[in-house]
Amino acid sequence: MSSQLNLSLEDRVALRRTFAIISHPDAGKTTLTEKLLLFGGAIQQAGAVKAKGEARRATSDWMKVEQERGISVSSSVMTYDYEGVTFNLLDTPGHGDFSEDTYRTLTAVDSAVMVLDAAKGIEAQTFKLFEVCRLRDMPITTFVNKLDREGRDPFDIIDEVEQKLAIDVTPASWPIGMGRSFKGVYDLINDKLILVENHAKGRIPLEGAACEGIDDPKLDELLGDEDAATLREQVEMVRELCPAFDKEAYLSGTLTPVYFGSAINNFGVRELLNGVSSNAPAPKTQTTKDRQVLPNEKKVTGFVFKIQANMDPKHRDRIAFVRLCSGHFKKGHKLLHVRSGKTMAVHNPTLFLAQDREIAEDAWPGDIIGIPNHGQLRIGDTLTEGEALRFTGIPSFAPELLQTVRPEDPLKAKHLGKALQQIAEEGAARVIKRNIGSDWIVGVVGPLQFEILADRVRTEFNVAARFEPSPLNTARWVESDDAGELKKFLDKNKSDLGEDHAGAPVFLVRNGWHLNKAQDDYPKLRFLKTKEQLD
Ligand code: G4P
Repeated sequence: MSSQLNLSLEDRVALRRTFAIISHPDAGKTTLTEKLLLFGGAIQQAGAVKAKGEARRATSDWMKVEQERGISVSSSVMTYDYEGVTFNLLDTPGHGDFSEDTYRTLTAVDSAVMVLDAAKGIEAQTFKLFEVCRLRDMPITTFVNKLDREGRDPFDIIDEVEQKLAIDVTPASWPIGMGRSFKGVYDLINDKLILVENHAKGRIPLEGAACEGIDDPKLDELLGDEDAATLREQVEMVRELCPAFDKEAYLSGTLTPVYFGSAINNFGVRELLNGVSSNAPAPKTQTTKDRQVLPNEKKVTGFVFKIQANMDPKHRDRIAFVRLCSGHFKKGHKLLHVRSGKTMAVHNPTLFLAQDREIAEDAWPGDIIGIPNHGQLRIGDTLTEGEALRFTGIPSFAPELLQTVRPEDPLKAKHLGKALQQIAEEGAARVIKRNIGSDWIVGVVGPLQFEILADRVRTEFNVAARFEPSPLNTARWVESDDAGELKKFLDKNKSDLGEDHAGAPVFLVRNGWHLNKAQDDYPKLRFLKTKEQLD
């Protein structure tokens, strides 16, 4: 980035924030993203991030997903600068069906912003995503949105966050009124009053409403006696009831600072951005099978966390999204693809700048680069400058929904197999080839994915295929440290087994009893729900 031209690797790392926004649909993630990009000068006008309002409401769920796929390459990573700091904002798919994709995206960020609707508090999807972040001890900053509407009592909201998520909460700002009577917030970190001003274009933050602390008599002038008294009382309560902001606790994921605001009015967004800028962690040390990789190491390392098929069906190439973990990457760099042992020269890496894509000249730890390829790169793969490292922590989930797929024309079985293999390598679905018979089983995490799969097989690969409900209940990868036991199980259960796209054995489970029995009969075997994507 231009403002960082002469900086060392260490400085660049210190000045990077790679994060994601998590929220339940409709809480305001898109609106907030847009405002953050506006601050960074990465986009010029609101409405640029995605089609909104009527246009969006008119579309069916399925089309919405299609649209998301359509824009996801360009907007799934947004890089922008703000006051000398480079932010990489990774988009997480809004639809609940894509939790697996979301999960993997969260493996590539160092912190998250959780957006809540002030009227709704913690919703189902917020809870799920939070749990994923917690598994990774990820620092979380909370933004309570839509204060310009009547919502719930702010004490109620922070209490809910604390109770439902079992996390310490410390308000970083405190709202003054709500809905029509929303006047602004009191910045508890800098002891500053920030008022909204009704403006022709909406309600915007009023600059210069300075007052010296909560006891300043100016507060009464600015807010009126009644509101000033209420604010003082509430601030006193907050300071008594909630722990003070503790950066260590935030960084270890046990405390979340809470900002109140209204994304659509650009209110509270600057404070949030400043909070992320000064408190959120820089790119962190990453774990591999053998050792820790520090971001300041000179040699380049990175891992693939997402594969995106090219939206143009005529081009079969795909983009692998690589999170850089260490070193200074330069265009044309030769990197070792550890899984295959082959070296690949990265001549046309893509850097993502809001909606535009550019060829990346160089990139730094925490940055995401897109590498076009023809299928060599898979989710979980590690790239290095020669060391045979393997980053860990990028899991694959056993699908909970299964369907059988067969070609309409039996002569097209091979084509269908190829199409499914490619889709599996992208991580869009699990594909299992049954050991006996010629059927494939496809497994997904959310039902909408079946429709997308069927559509892609038909349009991208030109194969007419039938997707049918499967009597299977679930699937489990089978592993064991005892090769003899594993072989015995595989030999005895041929008709209940298949292989995934990487050739790993998968147990096709008919019902809960079936799985329990297998576990009881073969105690030395592991029946895995998730699997590290290393092989
Ligand atoms: P999402 O990405 O989390 O799904 O949410 P998105 O930003 O699309 O926002 C969902 C709806 O909430 C949008 O309304 C948006 O305008 C509105 N919204 C976002 N922030 C605020 C806020 O601070 N205050 C209020 N009052 N509303 C907010 P919509 O009707 O679906 O779209 P539109 O017609 O307003 O564009």
